[in-house]
Amino acid sequence: MHILVTGGAGFIGSHTVVALSEAGYTPVIVDDFSNADKSVLDGLTAILGKKVICYEGDCGDKQLLQKIFNEQAIQGVIHFAAFKAVGESMSEPLKYYRNNLGTLVALLESMVSAGIPDLIFSSSCTVYGDPAKLPVTEASPVQQPESVYGNTKKVGEEILLDCQRAGLPLRSLLLRYFNPVGAHPSGLIGELPSGVPSNLVPFVMQTGAGLRPQLTVFGDDYDTPDGTCIRDYIHVMDLAEAHVAALAYLKKLNTPNHCDVFNVGTGKGASVMELIRTYEAVSGRKLPFTIGARRSGDVPMVYADPAKIQREMGWSASRSLEAALTDAWRWQQNIQ
Ligand code: UD1
Repeated sequence: MHILVTGGAGFIGSHTVVALSEAGYTPVIVDDFSNADKSVLDGLTAILGKKVICYEGDCGDKQLLQKIFNEQAIQGVIHFAAFKAVGESMSEPLKYYRNNLGTLVALLESMVSAGIPDLIFSSSCTVYGDPAKLPVTEASPVQQPESVYGNTKKVGEEILLDCQRAGLPLRSLLLRYFNPVGAHPSGLIGELPSGVPSNLVPFVMQTGAGLRPQLTVFGDDYDTPDGTCIRDYIHVMDLAEAHVAALAYLKKLNTPNHCDVFNVGTGKGASVMELIRTYEAVSGRKLPFTIGARRSGDVPMVYADPAKIQREMGWSASRSLEAALTDAWRWQQNIQ
């Protein structure tokens, strides 16, 4: 079964291409390579022992989508393609709304006219904001996001819910990812941030490798056991496999019109300090760091209740933070 993976050369997308292929699907990538490197395709070929079908271009380009739908028997879409830099989204909001939402609408219109019903949408735990109760379940209230990026995820979810309410022939699953980290255990694909990484794990890896002098821990005066923020870090291969489970779930539905939401996390929180210590243990290196000011927009603590996806899809995360950081470190050493 052919599955279109938009943003399939990106971090989560490329790992999902591996998981899909291993599960017997034929992934078809569409990526404009605006935030991904062509070398990802070589990594995928090396892991899978064959070339992955890839179209270079914008997945909001309806002519390109039509061409792909004509050439490949696409039976479902996993939509990763989106901008994700929180800071940049605040200075260039229209770029984010056009790319993250304009593209989604064009993709949905193309799917409806081609009669392709199934879509998995990348959402984020950012929609929960600073939750009053932990762990967060899918019933926890969605809050007004602090960033334009976060708002594109919230509005993206609303667009899909509205399609369902209107009775359009679409079946969508909104997956709210917690913090994806790690790399494929082969060390052949992983996260490739462009410029200075804003996410913790790539920053830790580059600092550990000596590419940056030190990590700044953004605040140690939060109301958490060690004062640093707590997140639910999920191995990217676990997250990739959640998409395979979600696809199987969609294919078993016997309704033409559906929309549902699932948390995809481990259920366990780790603090920034715990993550640093875990990195030091798996790499055998000391990580230079300093304690700095809080980063605006950071919430003290968020982690998932993943019971719903486990109950309904039989999926749960199986890899540890140690495994994720070991794999991320192997990848970092390979790309130097
Ligand atoms: C961020 C985004 C989130 C997005 C996700 C994508 C914000 C507020 N949130 O999540 O919307 O979906 O990335 O992966 O930007 N930290 C440091 N030093 C650093 C970098 C991070 O101490 O140099 C800390 C942060 O304060 C935070 C934790 O590490 O407590 C994780 O940060 P990060 O990897 O950026 O992820 P989030 O902020 O959780």
